[in-house]
Amino acid sequence: MTHPVDGKVVLITGAASGIGAATARLAAARGAKVIATDIDGEGVTAVAGEIGGHGLVHDVTDPAQWDAAIAAAVAHHGRLDGLVSNAGIVNYEPIIDLDMELFRSLVRVQVEATFVGLQKAVAQMRAQAGDEPAQGSIVVNASVMANEVAPGIASYATVKAAIANMARAVGVELGRNGDFIRVNTVAPGPVRTPLLEGAIGMEAMQDPASWGDVPLGDPSEPEDIAETILFLLSEESSFMTSAQLVVDGGWSLT
Ligand SMILES: NC(=O)c1ccc[n+]([C@@H]2O[C@H](COP(=O)([O-])OP(=O)(O)OC[C@H]3O[C@@H](n4cnc5c(N)ncnc54)[C@H](O)[C@@H]3O)[C@@H](O)[C@H]2O)c1
Repeated sequence: MTHPVDGKVVLITGAASGIGAATARLAAARGAKVIATDIDGEGVTAVAGEIGGHGLVHDVTDPAQWDAAIAAAVAHHGRLDGLVSNAGIVNYEPIIDLDMELFRSLVRVQVEATFVGLQKAVAQMRAQAGDEPAQGSIVVNASVMANEVAPGIASYATVKAAIANMARAVGVELGRNGDFIRVNTVAPGPVRTPLLEGAIGMEAMQDPASWGDVPLGDPSEPEDIAETILFLLSEESSFMTSAQLVVDGGWSLT
């Protein structure tokens, strides 16, 4: 039986590692044509080689590199059906002490990049539709921190709230405009990736006490989030737009 993402052309940012790499692997395994992009050229080339997709160096803060990434999808497969706006960085310093440039880098990688990616992907989806309503699915990877606050994570929570609300607003705007381009957000809790490990340290990562607040008992695996992203990319979620799916093992309710 074919999966609903079978044959879809999907651009995934931050695909060299963690959730992006897991999504690229799962999408390819389910028959999608994957354009995997990342600022880490070596990493993304390895992932793309493994899955038989196309790998591209793509710094999401650079609008010209967005043009090149979307052009690559069109050159290889003639169109773009889906975008997973996933690349991200984190900062765990108290916001009151945070260096302005570090704050700006979070804004650039999350807020500006999501803005540019949405604009460029929608432009391509409209262009390829001709006189028909544009079709497509865009998934923004935010975080439960879009809805929560915790000490030391205010800058990350700020930019994640911004992109979650941006996605919500754009979904409504597009629907009202007659585009059938759905925009949804995934909001993961703790996920076992290099980003989380870098933020809290390997020891805390491996200590079960760190996850006492997660009703399901552990951080999720990147594959858990990838499954949700594939659902949002596919026609299985065909009447969902401007929605947010929280995947956190119940953590944000404790
Ligand atoms: N790990 C978690 O606990 C968790 C929880 C909620 C949300 N998220 C979000 O999931 C997304 C993926 O994170 P992850 O945990 O897989 O981390 P990760 O560090 O494993 O992967 C992030 C990828 O983004 C890439 N990247 C960073 N800056 C970039 C840029 N300017 N241009 C292009 N690529 C860039 C990195 O090279 C890396 O490959 C992020 O947006 C993160 O905020 C993670």
